[in-house]
Amino acid sequence: MNDFTYKDNALYCENVPVKAIADKFPTPFYLYSYATFMDHFRKIKKAFEAVDPLICFSMKSNSNLSIARALVREGAGLDIVSGGELFKALKVGCPADRIVYASVGKTEAEIESAIRSNILFFNVESVPELIMIDTVSRRLKEKPRVALRVNPDVSADTHEYITTGKKENKFGIDFTTAEDIFDNENKYSNVSLEGIHVHIGSQITDTEPFVKAISKVIEFLEKSAVSVKWLNIGGGFGITYGQEKAKTAEEFASRIIPLVKGKGFRLILEPGRFIIGNAGILVAKVLYIKTTSGGKRFAIVNAGMNDLIRPSLYDAYHEITPVVKLRSETHMYDIVGPICESGDFLGKNRELPELVEDEYLAVMSTGAYGFAMASNYNSRPRPAELLVKNGRVRVIRRAETYKDLISCEKMLKELK
Ligand code: LLP
Repeated sequence: MNDFTYKDNALYCENVPVKAIADKFPTPFYLYSYATFMDHFRKIKKAFEAVDPLICFSMKSNSNLSIARALVREGAGLDIVSGGELFKALKVGCPADRIVYASVGKTEAEIESAIRSNILFFNVESVPELIMIDTVSRRLKEKPRVALRVNPDVSADTHEYITTGKKENKFGIDFTTAEDIFDNENKYSNVSLEGIHVHIGSQITDTEPFVKAISKVIEFLEKSAVSVKWLNIGGGFGITYGQEKAKTAEEFASRIIPLVKGKGFRLILEPGRFIIGNAGILVAKVLYIKTTSGGKRFAIVNAGMNDLIRPSLYDAYHEITPVVKLRSETHMYDIVGPICESGDFLGKNRELPELVEDEYLAVMSTGAYGFAMASNYNSRPRPAELLVKNGRVRVIRRAETYKDLISCEKMLKELK
């Protein structure tokens, strides 16, 4: 479900016509629907209510302050992966006991500030990291909580760049090493070992990989007689981008709950994409229609791989659709950006109603890993983020300016 729908051939975000927004705010911009992401959050909450999990929204998918704040106000915690995300999580008033911190490369400074903030726990990804956390805690005279992120060696059946639970991936600790850590807990006396974390990948559209991974973890806990307070099963619930049919929250829950219910630990989920993915679109304008002698049509738009890198990086499919459907004749188009690389495309071989210059296109389902992965490549200011809430359009991040582009740079005096 999402609140981007057509009425009389015009795309609406909730009850606001997207064309009216695009006429008012310079394109490109990201546009989010508050009702949609709230609905997705509540759906997960409801589906898992039998086990009352803590749902930590994965900030890496979208770390806009208003979005994180809205979810935190609704009871969400936050899954963070850096000192920057910790800073933003605290900024939006997330209670520290609802913050969990993963990442294979936490620095000493990041570890120190997370300990000082008294976060719920670290998801520890290696023995040297555990030693580092233990050492910093001793120095600070603190005893932070940690969960071991295990690598269950399970295939998530998703893009290889976003698979994280196979033994050849850099993430997590294998079961043998994890058992050794639990057996030698006293070696790490400055931390409190309280949980297990497992995250096998992202955009997983089937329930089986979750069942396999969680079953392996439960088996490990039972076999090694380890009891934990927390089981964090990560994120990864997939969404529908195109033809593939993703599972509903209830479908994921109905397979997962029987595995974890009554086992004595509290469940944590870290969904990102499921909550915000379909709640955002990228709106761009057609600059030129270019036809080659070979008969190929390119629609060159004012958004590129710097604004949305998923098609270029993962060959990801995002539906692209006119903001107002005016014409019935269709053509095949490659929708491409202005960046100086052939890999700069938003969609290839798309059959669309005949496109004309200056019309607006919507790149759908770009709420997750859209703006979050945007860059200034080609010295392009990053686009604005807008939010529709209760029929009002609000700027939740202004578009960057040329001045922003140079705000961190310095022209050396000696070069004058
Ligand atoms: N927890 C951990 C430990 C993670 O590494 C991730 C995502 C999540 C939770 C949230 O996963 P989600 O529910 O959003 O699937 N840039 C890629 C996705 C990278 C995902 C990285 N980890 C993309 O655009 O598809």
